Amino acid sequence: MADTIIRADKLSDSQYEYMQLIAEIMEIRKRGEKPLAFIRTYGCQQNVADSEKIKGMLMKSGFEFTDAPDNADFILFNTCAVREHAEDRVFGNVGALKNLKRRHPQILIALCGCMMEQEHIANRIYNSFPFVGLVFGTHSLHHFPELMYNSLVNGKRVFERGNDDKKIYEGFPVRRDGSFKGWLPIMYGCNNFCTYCIVPYVRGRERSRDKELIVSEACAMIEQGYKDITLLGQNVNSYGKTLENPVSFARLITEIDSIDGDYWLRFMTSHPKDCSKELIDAIAGGTHISKHLHLPFQSGSDRVLKAMNRHYDRKKYLDIINYAKEKIDGLSLTSDIIVGFPGETYEDFKQTLSLIREVEFTSLFTFIFSPRKGTPAEKMDDPVSAEEKSKWFKELLDVQEEIAAKRCSAMVGKTEKVLIESVKEKTGELNGRTSGNIIVELNGDSSLIGSFQNVRITKARNWILKGEIENGGI
Ligand code: SAH
Ligand code: SF4
Ligand code: F3S
Repeated sequence: MADTIIRADKLSDSQYEYMQLIAEIMEIRKRGEKPLAFIRTYGCQQNVADSEKIKGMLMKSGFEFTDAPDNADFILFNTCAVREHAEDRVFGNVGALKNLKRRHPQILIALCGCMMEQEHIANRIYNSFPFVGLVFGTHSLHHFPELMYNSLVNGKRVFERGNDDKKIYEGFPVRRDGSFKGWLPIMYGCNNFCTYCIVPYVRGRERSRDKELIVSEACAMIEQGYKDITLLGQNVNSYGKTLENPVSFARLITEIDSIDGDYWLRFMTSHPKDCSKELIDAIAGGTHISKHLHLPFQSGSDRVLKAMNRHYDRKKYLDIINYAKEKIDGLSLTSDIIVGFPGETYEDFKQTLSLIREVEFTSLFTFIFSPRKGTPAEKMDDPVSAEEKSKWFKELLDVQEEIAAKRCSAMVGKTEKVLIESVKEKTGELNGRTSGNIIVELNGDSSLIGSFQNVRITKARNWILKGEIENGGI
């Protein structure tokens, strides 16, 4: 597909005016009390990052946030369409809001995100859930304040599915969920059209943000104390191709890495077809880039990879993995796998098992194929039964459990730099993560949350490590 140059537009002044108008309406409705919003995000970090923009716009519209839908004046579900299960959860949870709307008719209930870009879903919401007042897709974020204003003032249902999928908008107010762990989108959309995947249909064509804007946002985050920054895109390896002055992802990450500070830099997701040696070299030579590569291979069988339209084969995948293992000391590898793609045989599946044995991933995200309406794979012959696929799936998990246990045991006795992230309510233990993204449980004070500590690994339990803070910390 020919790449078109994409220039960014700014969130327009009129949208800021709508935010002001919403604040005024809500002030009158709430008689000076702060209006509350309840936002639930499904799906991947792209959606999390979009929700952070929506929260930023809501904050500018005078809203505060609540974890209890019952107290809210505005309820928004940001939805995911990647598998049927994700969609079913949304439908179930939206259905449960019917009574809430009956009790509090003033509440505005809204749905947005990937599911809403699908016509059949938007129609189903329109017909079956009359209490949903506002629906908009991933391409409508830049006029969310206007859409919300319209549904507040004229009491009519507002439904919008965007078709303007070639644009990029900058200048959103962002309210980040975390204070030391943050997401930084570097590009949107996807051009790959893997035959099973809905993402290109609901997120539009691939478009990269301007390098200078990304670098200055990273600078600001580091200055604000962010310790763990993840660069986001569906296929970060093809970053920069649609820019007026094309630039590689390896160059972008190296430039961010040169910013002074104590932080980790991560990225996701990499696509094996574009994962370059230049990028591996950048990770190996980086100061802040975490020693972690999430490289989804989906299937170990060349036949299945071809049917998936992945544009690499097993050999190419293993070549890049072996190069990375050789270059990056202490590398942690993770991946995504689909089990039961249409036409996959047990022989094909065994190739996936042999690949995970060969690579020894620290962890895997494993999925059973879910047909998505409008994708080529939906129409492919799929003779293997759901029971059979579940058996294969279980076999995969068993093999991976063994490998993860082995990988984690090998870390016992080593000292790792760990970012302390949270405290476990039940036990009072702290949870942290290594640079390789492996969870470590340890004892310590909750005041350490958000700090790096040197932790000696004392035990491994499957894919979770136990450790002790070394005297003196960092
Ligand atoms: N852009 C990323 C992944 C985005 S979706 C990439 O290309 O790697 C995250 C994961 O969901 C995919 O890697 C895939 O393993 C899984 N997935 C996507 N569509 C699916 C489907 N229809 N059924 C089952 N799993 C799916
Ligand atoms: Fe989906 Fe493939 Fe794009 Fe990933 S690269 S988002 S799996 S189409
Ligand atoms: Fe889901 Fe959309 Fe992400 S479909 S996985 S939330 S890009």
